[in-house]
Amino acid sequence: MDIEEFREFGKASVDYIASYFENIRKIDVISKVEPGYLKNELPETVPLRGESWHKVLEDVDKVILPGLTHWHSPHFHAFFPTANSFPGVVGELLLSGLGSLSKDWETNPACIELEIRMMDWLGKMLGLPEEFLNESDGPGGGVIQNAASEATFLGLLCGKQRTIASQSEDQVSSKLVAYTSKESNSSVEKAGLLASVPMRLLPTDQNGSLRGRTLQAAIKKDKEAGLVPCCVVATLGTTGTCAFDNLEEIGTVCHEEGVWLHVDAAYAGAVFACPEYRHLMKGVQFADSFNFNPHKWMLVNSDCSAMWFKDTRNAEAALRVKTNLPNPSVFEPDIQHWQIPDSRRFRALKIWFVLRIYGVEGVQKHIRRQIALARFFQQLVEVDDRFEVCASSMGLVCFRVKGEDVFTRVLLDGVSKRGKIFLTPYFYREQLVVRFVICSRFTERGDILFAWREIVRVLEEQVFPCKIVVSKKRRRIRNNGTNILKVLDPSFTNIHQGINENVKVELFL
Ligand SMILES: Cc1ncc(COP(=O)(O)O)c(C=O)c1O
Repeated sequence: MDIEEFREFGKASVDYIASYFENIRKIDVISKVEPGYLKNELPETVPLRGESWHKVLEDVDKVILPGLTHWHSPHFHAFFPTANSFPGVVGELLLSGLGSLSKDWETNPACIELEIRMMDWLGKMLGLPEEFLNESDGPGGGVIQNAASEATFLGLLCGKQRTIASQSEDQVSSKLVAYTSKESNSSVEKAGLLASVPMRLLPTDQNGSLRGRTLQAAIKKDKEAGLVPCCVVATLGTTGTCAFDNLEEIGTVCHEEGVWLHVDAAYAGAVFACPEYRHLMKGVQFADSFNFNPHKWMLVNSDCSAMWFKDTRNAEAALRVKTNLPNPSVFEPDIQHWQIPDSRRFRALKIWFVLRIYGVEGVQKHIRRQIALARFFQQLVEVDDRFEVCASSMGLVCFRVKGEDVFTRVLLDGVSKRGKIFLTPYFYREQLVVRFVICSRFTERGDILFAWREIVRVLEEQVFPCKIVVSKKRRRIRNNGTNILKVLDPSFTNIHQGINENVKVELFL
């Protein structure tokens, strides 16, 4: 491909993306393809002769698009948002096009210096304590990592290293133990596995929040058993219900016990750009490391995970190895030692694009708007007495169909099969709930009404497919000509026995 063809291919691809977003509302969010669909669409081996880019782009439309789940559809309400914005897309295109990596400053001054400045911009925008910033006089600082999972792992490695260094006893590694709540993301448990440190999953209070006294009791018990606590991972915005651990209580315990405190604010960290939510990170001054994902709720395309250390010397102690570079970098800080990969992509470029083009006000508007849409959805659920809201926080509402879990299960299955909206299940307080999250930046009130109508339609057609007429005279079940419901208990408790049948029944009492 020569440079002229590259121009044409690139422009056609940008046009393709623009049309995709223009039409995204019209496409079903969940793909209808069957497992293995792609096998028959593609040749088994590499084509012998190179093909034209026109043909390749055509095949994206023909073969790839039908198998896509549309994560930026306004009807995508699963998981958490995965960030996307036009400045973010162009930033990603440019950083890929320039293709410039970095290790230390000498290998790419712009990449290192822009990253350091962007991390300070972000830290100030969230209202983090100054000691975390690169520009502070102390040893604090921030860098971009690939993912929150990786940041948690690094936080744990730092806690592990600091604890080992502080102990005179040999063999301390085998006695280390770490803590998080049972509501934390699975990546926290995985970090424990990777670091070979048992991760205790502690119970939360009735709001899904880990409290100081629970942590204190667990630490006491482990210390009495001869174990050595080294790290606590607190979550601000849990994956299931977006609950906030009590950072002030947990931080006080960590401070007293000398245990590393890592804060995982992967999704909800972005909300601190709005000062009215900063009370939820009260106690952040106790954190040793803090992480949030601009690639979730802050409009910067994946991957982009922001991580700060209060004392970066801990990261260096845990991660720095003797490199084969002959001279130390002339530039400080040397952020290559605060990460796992050897080199880094120029991800700061896309943060710069997003923050300059949106500004603080644009980011705040985006976040407040999504929270308002979630509250609008919550109101729709609350006024329908067939449903109950189980938890709600930020852009997330957890709700369920009243009664046994099977109703909610059938609702979720029915919605998923129709593919018009994408919802995910969660088990909360031993009950099945539906997570409804405002994810796409294209979502509007009309899309919320669309989702609500879809939910009600599935409820009425598949969960409670019965028309009930009550008469005092006699009791009769009338078959409307389709299938017969096997057992119909007037109290409704057994209605699920016929739930998958297309049944219309009138019940006379
Ligand atoms: C609270 C929390 N932590 C960590 C993660 C993992 O994020 P990542 O995919 O960036 O590793 C998630 C993902 O949703 C999350 O919600």
